[in-house]
Amino acid sequence: MSKKITDKVTWVGKIDWELKFFHGNEYSTRKGSSYNSYLLRDEKTALIDTVWQPYDKEFVKRLKEEIDLKSIDYIIMNHSEIDHSGALPELMREIPNTPIYCTANGAKIIKGHYHEDWNYKIVKTGDTLDIGESKLVFIEAPMLHWPDTMFTYMTVDNILFSNDGFGQHYATESLFNDTADQAELYAEAIKYYANILTPFSRYVTKKIEEILSFKLPVNMICPSHGVIWKDNPAQIIEQYIKWADSYQENQITIIYDTMWNATRKMAEAIAYGIEQTDSSVNIKLMNASKDDKNDILTEVFKSKGILVGSPTVNNGYLYSIGGLLEMIKGLKFKDKKAASFGSYGWSGEAVKQISEELNKAGFTLAQDGKRELWVPDRAAYDSCIEFGKRFLSV
Ligand code: FEO
Repeated sequence: MSKKITDKVTWVGKIDWELKFFHGNEYSTRKGSSYNSYLLRDEKTALIDTVWQPYDKEFVKRLKEEIDLKSIDYIIMNHSEIDHSGALPELMREIPNTPIYCTANGAKIIKGHYHEDWNYKIVKTGDTLDIGESKLVFIEAPMLHWPDTMFTYMTVDNILFSNDGFGQHYATESLFNDTADQAELYAEAIKYYANILTPFSRYVTKKIEEILSFKLPVNMICPSHGVIWKDNPAQIIEQYIKWADSYQENQITIIYDTMWNATRKMAEAIAYGIEQTDSSVNIKLMNASKDDKNDILTEVFKSKGILVGSPTVNNGYLYSIGGLLEMIKGLKFKDKKAASFGSYGWSGEAVKQISEELNKAGFTLAQDGKRELWVPDRAAYDSCIEFGKRFLSV
C-alpha cells in the first residue's frame, strides 16, 4: 500500500518483512528491510528510486493503482544498486522514454546492470529540476556507498532523499522514526553504519559538512531503507558525525572460536582479567561460529579494543575466524587496539597469524599474542588473566 508523507510526497516502496539476508549472505537482516520509493506530485510528477527486482511486478502494479504511469515526467535514480533499480526494467517497459536523472556513474552502472540505452539525464551537484512549486536539487555523494550515489533535496517540503545514507535494514509498518521501536531502530541504524558505511567514514564527514554548509532547512530525511526521519531529523545527522569520527565506546570485545573449549577458557580468563582491572569496561565475548557475523562486526565498531582467539588447526586458524578477519579488514576500522590468543597442541601458528592479520587491518597490536599448550591449567588460566589485565593497561 502507498502511504502519504506530505501533500506532495507519497511513499510507494515495499516493506520486506521476510528478508533475512542482504547482499547475498553478507549482511543479516533479522528485522527485514524496506525499499523506499517516493512519488512526488507537483505540477510535474517525479519518481525517486524503485524497489528490488523480486518485487518489480508488484511495485509497478501498485504504482498503476496510484497514478497513470504515463503521467510520470521524471525518474530520479539516486543509486543504481539492484535493491533500488531492480524494478526499472519492468517500469521502463511501460514508459520507455521517460527521462532517468542520475549521475554519470549511475548511468554507466544502470547500463551495466540492464544493458538498456534509456533516456539518461546526467546531473551533478547543484543541478536542479523544477517540478512546479518545488524544485529538486541534486547532490552527488560518491562512495556513500557506491561511486554513483547521489542525494536529492526537495524545496518547499524541505526533504532530503538520502538513499542508503541514514538508512537501516528495518521493516516497520509505521515508516516514521518517532513511532518505531526506539531500541530496535538504534540497533539497526548502528549495525547498518558499522557494516556498510564504516569504510567510507571520511566521505560521510565531508558530505555532511558540505550539506550543512548549504544551510538548507531539512524537515525530513527520507532514506531508501527503513524509517523516515521525521521527528528531529538532525538526530541521525549528529549520530553519523559521531560514528564517522573513529567511533568507540568503553567496550572490549573478545571474539573466539574453539574446538575443545581450551580457547574458550582462555577467552573467559582474559575477560575476567579485564573486568578485575576496570569494572566500568563493557566486555563482550562472542563465538565467531555461533554469533551473527554482522552483530560481531557491530560490536567491533563499538569497541576500543578487540581480542581475537583461535586454536591452531592445520597450521592456521579456524575458518570462522578467517572469514571474520577478512570482513574486519574490509571495514577499515580506525584507532582500535587488538591482540590475539589461542590454544595449540604442537605447531601453534594461529596466534601469530591472527596478530599479523589484525595489524594489516589497521589495528594497533597492544601486546604479543597469547598461546597456551593444550587445555589451560591453573597457572595458564592465571597467565591469561594477567594477559587481560595487561591488554587494558597498554
Ligand atoms: Fe540499498 Fe546500496 O543499496
